[in-house]
Amino acid sequence: MTDRAAIVTGASSGIGLAVARMLAEHGHAVTLAARRPAKLQAAYDELRADGLEVQQVAANVGDEDDVRRVVAAHRDAYGRLDVLMNNAGVGIGAAIGELNTRRMDIQLATNLRSLPLFYREALGMLTAAGAEHRNALVINTASIAGKHGQAWLSVYSATKAGVVGFTQAMNEELSKLGIKSTALCPGFVDTAMTEFVRGHVAPEAMIQTSDIVASVRMLLSLTPGCLVPEIVFQRPGDAGLEAIG
Ligand SMILES: NC(=O)c1ccc[n+]([C@@H]2O[C@H](COP(=O)([O-])OP(=O)(O)OC[C@H]3O[C@@H](n4cnc5c(N)ncnc54)[C@H](OP(=O)(O)O)[C@@H]3O)[C@@H](O)[C@H]2O)c1
Repeated sequence: MTDRAAIVTGASSGIGLAVARMLAEHGHAVTLAARRPAKLQAAYDELRADGLEVQQVAANVGDEDDVRRVVAAHRDAYGRLDVLMNNAGVGIGAAIGELNTRRMDIQLATNLRSLPLFYREALGMLTAAGAEHRNALVINTASIAGKHGQAWLSVYSATKAGVVGFTQAMNEELSKLGIKSTALCPGFVDTAMTEFVRGHVAPEAMIQTSDIVASVRMLLSLTPGCLVPEIVFQRPGDAGLEAIG
């Protein structure tokens, strides 16, 4: 059995792929989960080509059976779970008067409903890791939109505020078991998700995936007695109110 293992959702690009790479480079066996199989395969091939221990499971995190399948495949392959990163997410902008119910449900299911499902399915492995070293870590990618609701991204903002609240609840419920949860709340990060805004904000003026990776590295280095419930990432000059993402 491996010494350390992780699941990262939304691992086929952007923040998830960068964090999955770092975790694998630091000795974690990593299950990569994301929706589109071809894109996930490319990420898997990239990491395997560098000799990293990863497996891939194509899954829609909004689907309960798929969540079960990801966790079961991870348990079968690696037998333990030290880090769970609930990172898959989608933002679909719309004025409230033009709200499309199906698009609203996709955001609710992907960004929020998936979290309780992953915690529930992974709880046995997280509890075992917490009992072993008091430092099981769950990272939930929220957004600065979860700290300040954004116009035209109201549903996305609500899901991300929900991620922050759910993370707080999980710390109330699980941190005494050595399972620590952190919500990450960034403004614009230079990924595919912010391509639409590049005309207004240059990619180099955005937060970089390396900044998110650095924060996860910091979380991994903390002693069992220290819990960081939330990290807010702002761009200089932007208190968060203008950010989309
Ligand atoms: N970029 C930003 O400015 C920013 C700011 C704050 C928060 N965030 C959050 O950061 C997280 C990662 O986003 P990113 O910026 O790295 O964008 P990204 O490069 O577009 O990555 C999104 C990832 O989530 C996956 N995904 C989307 N829907 C899924 C579903 N239903 N089931 C499984 N996987 C799904 C995508 O896979 P497919 O491509 O196959 O769908 C992809 O791997 C998201 O939760 C996002 O809300 C981003």
